[in-house]
Amino acid sequence: ELHRIPHPRHRLPLLGDVLGVDRDRPVQDSMRLGRELGPVFRRRIFGKEFVIVWGAEQTADLADESRFAKHVGLGVANLRPVAGDGLFTAYNHEPNWQLAHDVLVPGFSREAMAGYHGMMLTVAGRLTDHWDRELAAGRTVDVPGDMTKLTLETIARTGFGHDFGSFERDRPHPFVTAMVGTLSYAQRLNSVPSPLAPLVLRGATRRNEADMALLNRTVDALVAQRRRSGGGEGDLLDRMLATAHPETGEKLSPQNVRRQVITFLVAGHETTSGALSFALYYLARHPEIAAKARAEVDRVWGGTARPGYEQVAKLRYVRRVLDESLRLWPTAPGYGREALRDTVLAGDHPMRRGAWALVLTPLLHRDPGVWGEDAERFDPDRFEPRAVRTRPPHTFKPFGTGVRACIGRQFALHEATLVLALLLRRYELRPDPGYRLTITERLTLMPQGFRLHLERRRPAP
Ligand code: HEM
Repeated sequence: ELHRIPHPRHRLPLLGDVLGVDRDRPVQDSMRLGRELGPVFRRRIFGKEFVIVWGAEQTADLADESRFAKHVGLGVANLRPVAGDGLFTAYNHEPNWQLAHDVLVPGFSREAMAGYHGMMLTVAGRLTDHWDRELAAGRTVDVPGDMTKLTLETIARTGFGHDFGSFERDRPHPFVTAMVGTLSYAQRLNSVPSPLAPLVLRGATRRNEADMALLNRTVDALVAQRRRSGGGEGDLLDRMLATAHPETGEKLSPQNVRRQVITFLVAGHETTSGALSFALYYLARHPEIAAKARAEVDRVWGGTARPGYEQVAKLRYVRRVLDESLRLWPTAPGYGREALRDTVLAGDHPMRRGAWALVLTPLLHRDPGVWGEDAERFDPDRFEPRAVRTRPPHTFKPFGTGVRACIGRQFALHEATLVLALLLRRYELRPDPGYRLTITERLTLMPQGFRLHLERRRPAP
């Protein structure tokens, strides 16, 4: 029943909907098309046709786990060579998904999170040391670059007891460069006809193989080090290596451990880095909102040098700033859902078993029917409890949906709230007045070229 779904007017034979398309910005392109074509539309890029959904009603229906499940497609499928049957890229039917899920979920419990808190604070201290030095030297700071250092160190140290030394380096760690390479490559594969990919992307494919080899080498060294040193303090890596499934007694295979470590190092930092960067962008752009958030930090934390775990969740307004940033720019900007059997989507679109659609969250999060005519405006008060209660369910989905939703959600929210609060308490954030938000895409979204001028807050608490 695809023919009933609108698509761009100028569709070329063989090539599909490629006119006016920006190959490097597929999400922002889809947002533009979605605004023209409505809540369910389709795009064809060469031979591949896919359906994109952003309406609140359709998204809520796709969240029904009795009829739909995660679809591993597009960019996620293209990451299979890197991440295999690791949690993020596993097909629903692969036994290693349930095994790893059950073994790793306790690594995100409240107790586990409270255990990571001290290390998160320590890593945040490395960031503020670095920013203090830049400030003293009269330099501006590279926000996405430094947020990536912070989030990589946080997941590597809390999850794997590993120190990448990011803050001691002028340039990104080679692991990050290789990761960005594989993410960009996975995105590019979507915009090339598959039979031609080996030819068109020959150079890129060779580079991608080198990138994957570097990711594997890095991870193998990290695992070997842990095997030599014996168990750590029960972090994610210990769980991956030693924990048996509570019912079956099965453990993760060495090959699967490698996939999981790569998955967590990548999924555990890239999107959080973007979320922090967008939040800092909006805070710098809205001094009155920054002032309100800062006042909350002062009120809840007072002058304590090392705020405790419990004191982070009390920062309700800072958390709303983060939610509102993830609303406008959900840094993992979509997720795929496939029909488990023949069904009708939202009473209107018949779908065969196995048919799938991509939920485009940046547009879902701007649906004027849900968020109002001012949906494009940054306003953290949209996440006041009263407003949240009156909104229909499944209208805010930055972490995906159902059993395959983000396992690291609490980890990301705790880390990002903590870091925003520490930065607000310490600095005034001055944007470059000439900066216009531009967004790069490499499956994830990230503000491009965003720098801040810092001032130490006076009087410092
Ligand atoms: C899954 C977003 C942080 C690990 C997902 C999915 C989304 C998402 C949308 C579902 C993808 C799909 O359905 O195809 C985000 C965002 C984050 C974030 C926006 C930060 C703001 C993290 C962190 C970790 C993590 C910190 C690990 C520490 C994972 C894993 C999965 C996942 C392992 C796959 C879960 C499964 O299928 O069982 N994330 N994530 N994420 N995320 Fe996150």
